[in-house]
Amino acid sequence: MNLSTVILAAGKGKRMYSETPKVLHPLAGKTLLEHVVNSSYAVNPHHQPIVVYGHEGEKVKKTLAHLNVAWVEQSQQLGTGHALLQALTHIPDDHNVLVLYGDVPLISAETLKSFIDTTPKNSIGILTATFPDPSGLGRIIRNKEGQITQIIEDKDSTDAQRRIQEINSGIYILPANLLKKWLPQLQNQNAQKEYYLTDIIAMAVSENIAIHSSQPGAYEEVLGINDRVQLAKLERQYQLRQAEKLLRQGVTLHDPARFDLRGELSVGSDVIIDINVIIEGKVQIGNHCLIGPNCVLRNVIIGDHVEIKANSVIDGAEIAEGCSVGPFARLRPGTVLSPRSHIGNFVEIKNSEIGTGTKVNHLTYLGDSDVGKNVNVGAGTITCNYDGINKHRTTIGDDAFIGSNSQLVAPVTIGAGATIGAGSTITRDAPAHQLTLSRGQQRSIENWQRPKKKES
Ligand code: UD1
Ligand code: CA
Repeated sequence: MNLSTVILAAGKGKRMYSETPKVLHPLAGKTLLEHVVNSSYAVNPHHQPIVVYGHEGEKVKKTLAHLNVAWVEQSQQLGTGHALLQALTHIPDDHNVLVLYGDVPLISAETLKSFIDTTPKNSIGILTATFPDPSGLGRIIRNKEGQITQIIEDKDSTDAQRRIQEINSGIYILPANLLKKWLPQLQNQNAQKEYYLTDIIAMAVSENIAIHSSQPGAYEEVLGINDRVQLAKLERQYQLRQAEKLLRQGVTLHDPARFDLRGELSVGSDVIIDINVIIEGKVQIGNHCLIGPNCVLRNVIIGDHVEIKANSVIDGAEIAEGCSVGPFARLRPGTVLSPRSHIGNFVEIKNSEIGTGTKVNHLTYLGDSDVGKNVNVGAGTITCNYDGINKHRTTIGDDAFIGSNSQLVAPVTIGAGATIGAGSTITRDAPAHQLTLSRGQQRSIENWQRPKKKES
């Protein structure tokens, strides 16, 4: 069938009590609206979905500028029927319209595909589900023969209707020509004074248009987000589902309930992930790796046999095979660790390449530096890479030894095999294979007395 997709996303989301429009709130690190847009691409790859935006519209468009969608404005939020009406001029008469709601984020491509395939041509399709607690949602009213006759909103329903557990998901397939006839006829005489899209069902029934209903693969797929309680619950359900998928792929998660994936993760075999690990952006982990507790990994590539120890925060780094990082390490964007390098506790590295077998084990800051192979960087070493205006690079040659508590004032080069004496402030290049140090000579004062307390 010729299909156009419309995503309704203009509402404010009053019940979120937020300055951010509801559809921009994140679920698993991605806005609600982006989840829906991605599902629509999956079922209709060559079609640009139409997004109806309104409340804080510029913010929505700006945040999601990277998406290939057509934006249609609904300047006043007068209801879901009014919202869909705004998009109709962009849709040819012979199309069917797949309607998705921007606040029903987890609808899967599989469910949508089977919904589209099973809905007969020229009829109306509604995706419904049976909820243990349907409160707040539109209820599906069926006649004795089981045919759908109406959708009634919670606020407009009788006590008997409220007991119905079959709900409207807000996802429909609707012939465009019928919408063009029906939507302008909608009335807003209801509890919310809104033009309800759901009222077209009764119109269809009165015109003998067939109504077909389908159900989703899992009921979480049609859970809507209206407040932060629902958002938090759906986040946990979604995370648990992702964790179970990883477990089935052979990843060990010490506690699937304490694992958060807010992006894409690819993992090799025999990887162990301890509790409270957060994965963001695109993360790749090789074989036989160990990720300790409380680590945050964002846009990281990790080779085989790597150990990331507890409480490390790693962002935009590449870590080659056999490295060990942490505990309490922070690797910032542009960090590249060559094989078998060791980064220890309270070490921060930014925009730096660390050579094979190099050790930076304690209390160190390396920024904008190129460090060679088998270098030993002593505790408390700092590259002074910033002069208050510009950043400068530090180069350290292979096999160099940087004594503890040294400051390397960039731009500066430490030659291969050089040794820097502990406690030095190095402001000029240090030659290869020599000892360079800059500190006052040690003295002892023989008859020195400690100060005494004054008598009062
Ligand atoms: C809606 C349905 C209800 C269904 C539920 C499923 C109607 C009248 N009710 O109720 O039957 O069970 O979803 O989650 O459709 N929107 C606009 N413009 C508007 C109003 C809303 O674009 O003027 C958008 C919202 O941004 C949201 C979606 O439409 O993404 C649904 O709106 P919402 O107000 O949340 O409707 P519900 O009360 O949840
Ligand atoms: Ca809703």
